[in-house]
Amino acid sequence: MPQRSLTKEQRAEALQRWWAAFPYGDMGQRLGAMHKFEEQHGPLTEDEKRAALYRFSPAQKEQLGNSKVFEAPTDIGEKEALKLCGQLLDDRHYDLLLNETGMVETPTNYEVPLGILLKNRIPQDLLDAVRPIVRKAARRKVAGGNRGVAAGTGMVQRKKRGGQMSNMRGAPHLEDLSDEDFTRLRSAKDGTLGFNARSVRGGQVYPCRVTHYSGALPREMALMGVLAKTVAEAFKNSWVQDRWEAQFEKASQTSPVWLIRTSEGHTPFTTVTCNKSWRTAAHIDKGDLKEGFGVICCLGDFEGCDLVFPRYRTAVRYQEGDVLLANVHEVHGNTPLLNPDGSVPKVGREPERLVCVFYYQERMDECESTMEKEHKFINRRERGQAMRKGKAKAAGKE
Ligand SMILES: [Fe+2]
Repeated sequence: MPQRSLTKEQRAEALQRWWAAFPYGDMGQRLGAMHKFEEQHGPLTEDEKRAALYRFSPAQKEQLGNSKVFEAPTDIGEKEALKLCGQLLDDRHYDLLLNETGMVETPTNYEVPLGILLKNRIPQDLLDAVRPIVRKAARRKVAGGNRGVAAGTGMVQRKKRGGQMSNMRGAPHLEDLSDEDFTRLRSAKDGTLGFNARSVRGGQVYPCRVTHYSGALPREMALMGVLAKTVAEAFKNSWVQDRWEAQFEKASQTSPVWLIRTSEGHTPFTTVTCNKSWRTAAHIDKGDLKEGFGVICCLGDFEGCDLVFPRYRTAVRYQEGDVLLANVHEVHGNTPLLNPDGSVPKVGREPERLVCVFYYQERMDECESTMEKEHKFINRRERGQAMRKGKAKAAGKE
């Protein structure tokens, strides 16, 4: 029974003792501690209850990524931000730079943070083990690819072999670029690991499948699975764990055949986009689960290439070993890629900067349970029958 006769001073002392021994654990432990206090000392106030539910220890804040919370300096609005798509960004496009473990909120949407930077979350031996695999996966030239907005070149109509114009569109090839674009994109490459959803491209129907780059050995995919699990754990334990839950639930409704996994189970990711030494122009990521969140890491010794969110005049500086959780459905792009000493690299001598963007590709839960069944499903379709209304493109990751 509560000691109802406590004086104001006695209650303050009891509260002080209670806080000193407070179990900064999960919700159940917090509610248990609150119940125990109320049993002994009478009801907590609404403010005290709120504090008990939302106060975190320094170690928990470090894990959640909210040890420091910043508010983005402004919101120029979605319309103005979208006008920047395809343009190159630099230090004129941001005022706030996040360069430590912390979270940036926007002035207009407290529900979804703009980004959370978690410093030093990936062990060095794992980074070293996956480096050659990511390098190998990022094998397609960005010039001539299908990510013209993120390339900053726009999309042009492709020519057929005979010189006629085709219906296909893509970023111009290196030889057709301006000197400035050539300099920036000469070394830029991209690629994907994992799986793609059904899609239609150039009138051709593609089933759910292994991504374009299928040269990863089982041992290499296992290592990428360990990296995926490592970043997924950081995501799961972060302030945006509700986003992890939504993504993990979607993954749980998907055949494990299409998920990046380890021997211990699956991750919430179907696909990893790998970029190499690519300073992206302003763009928005497409094709990933809207309820999810961008999960990004990078490898390499370089300076620059900070990720700018011009709508909120905010940039994030993440480096090898860090995990960046970001709202990639906001316009974003990189500042120039620089040498480790901050100098401008010579053309063709850009430092290697490898980026991995982990995501759940939309509609992968519609894939059949095995690759064989998926191919049968596609082949069974009657000629002309619509496969789906939209395309699932993995465009412009990072
Ligand atoms: Fe992106």
